[in-house]
Amino acid sequence: MANVILVFGSTTGNTEMLAEHVVAGLEEGMASVTVKNVTEASVDELADNDAILFGCSTWGEGDLQDDFVDFQEAMDGVSLEGKKAAVFGPGDSEGYTDSFCAAVDMLEETLKKCGAEIVAEGFKVDGVVEPAFEDAEAWGLKVAKAL
Ligand SMILES: Cc1cc2nc3c(=O)[nH]c(=O)nc-3n(C[C@H](O)[C@H](O)[C@H](O)COP(=O)(O)O)c2cc1C
Repeated sequence: MANVILVFGSTTGNTEMLAEHVVAGLEEGMASVTVKNVTEASVDELADNDAILFGCSTWGEGDLQDDFVDFQEAMDGVSLEGKKAAVFGPGDSEGYTDSFCAAVDMLEETLKKCGAEIVAEGFKVDGVVEPAFEDAEAWGLKVAKAL
């Protein structure tokens, strides 16, 4: 059974709600999941897992959700060689066409720089998140199968 850590950053709760459904999919795929708000997570614990999932919304004009900023900086120089990874997050393509879900792309790059392998295309949710709950679960299951 693969051990997965899912770290999320969420200002108004949308990423957190998506995370719950991603976890359901991961568990359906027999992964053992630890879920942490990024405010309570430490970069040091990432490498204790087989796979790392990040959930992060995009704020400003293409910025990471506030709580994730220091965490991403702390990942500089960390080795995640041999680890599998994937990223999801909500955004708004109407209001922010040029920076739609930029946080997902940024965190994928960070994980790759640390040596992790991205095993599933980033899951980006546009606008209201509730209609995407089923897709979030399916994406979680897909990730679990890729571990
Ligand atoms: C001030 C502000 C800036 C935002 N900037 C972006 C952005 O650059 N790109 C994007 O895709 N969404 C952007 N959004 C949309 C949020 O990412 C979206 O509301 C998301 O669901 C929030 O998730 P959270 O509650 O988990 O933080 C912005 C929203 C606000 C209110």
